[in-house]
Amino acid sequence: MAHVQYDCSQGSHLNTINSSASPMGAEQIQLLLHMCKEAKKSAYCPYSNFPVGAALLTGDGKFFSGCNVENASSPLTVCAERTAIQKAVSEGNMNFRAMAIASNSEEDFIVPCGACRQVMREFGRDWVIYMTKPDGTYIIRTLEELLPLSFGPENLKKF
Ligand code: THU
Repeated sequence: MAHVQYDCSQGSHLNTINSSASPMGAEQIQLLLHMCKEAKKSAYCPYSNFPVGAALLTGDGKFFSGCNVENASSPLTVCAERTAIQKAVSEGNMNFRAMAIASNSEEDFIVPCGACRQVMREFGRDWVIYMTKPDGTYIIRTLEELLPLSFGPENLKKF
């Protein structure tokens, strides 16, 4: 099995997300990690040549994947993370437990851009993101860690 780099400085995320649901199993995590690599193969990225894949696990055990989809009009590019989220939400799934992200970058763990962090945060602060390298290592952070002091749906409900 691949070496796992797991930063648990903030406590064990796996046991604290969505406390009403059972903890994620090792098999679900392995599948999520596999799926994000597979999704990367579908990336449409002729401009950047930077394929990215994402896989999303819902609270009730469903999986959705996505890749980056670029456009000649560059602001219209959609990241892999948001593709996966749009697919899940458009099929009625808004309770997320984890996402895994893959790229071909050997040097760095692939991290979500700021826009994707905000879109992820829309669906909670206590779910986790697995940021991987092609060698199978990864780091894990909660949304709260990736986007602290964030603005979200709760802020609007106060009015
Ligand atoms: N990209 C993603 O899909 N996800 C990330 O986490 C970082 C960046 C895409 C957007 C664009 O197609 C390409 O990578 C280069 O920025």
